[in-house]
Amino acid sequence: MSSDESFKKLAEELQQEIDKEEEATYSARVLEEYRNPVNVGRMENPDTSAIITGPCGDTMEIYLKIQGDMISEATFMTDGCGSSIACGSLTTRLATGRTIREAKEITNNDILDELGGLPDENIHCAKLAADTLHKALENRK
Ligand code: FES
Repeated sequence: MSSDESFKKLAEELQQEIDKEEEATYSARVLEEYRNPVNVGRMENPDTSAIITGPCGDTMEIYLKIQGDMISEATFMTDGCGSSIACGSLTTRLATGRTIREAKEITNNDILDELGGLPDENIHCAKLAADTLHKALENRK
């Protein structure tokens, strides 16, 4: 085997090891959302937005377009962990198509329920996403 091939094999084995660890730690829904997040990115000309840095030091940004009383588009950005990516993605999914009043009622427990739970040390990631959504709604002029 050439050194290129053995390096590739080692990288594949490492990746499989990481995948196995993630699957033991996170629900299938979390992994799906984290590996294929939707609505990622900063929105140009949002109607409202918010940026919050959580106690863990990670930052969540949420951007919303609002038509009448309804959230027509939601995007997020985060520099945080895989869970925060899953939570940001899911929160934008939950918010899109809801009225402002309904979106204000989305809680971190709703996010956790949809994700099939998170490890204890990542529960705050759901709170960070919910808080950022609520703050964006508050910031609306
Ligand atoms: Fe802080 Fe996930 S948002 S660890």
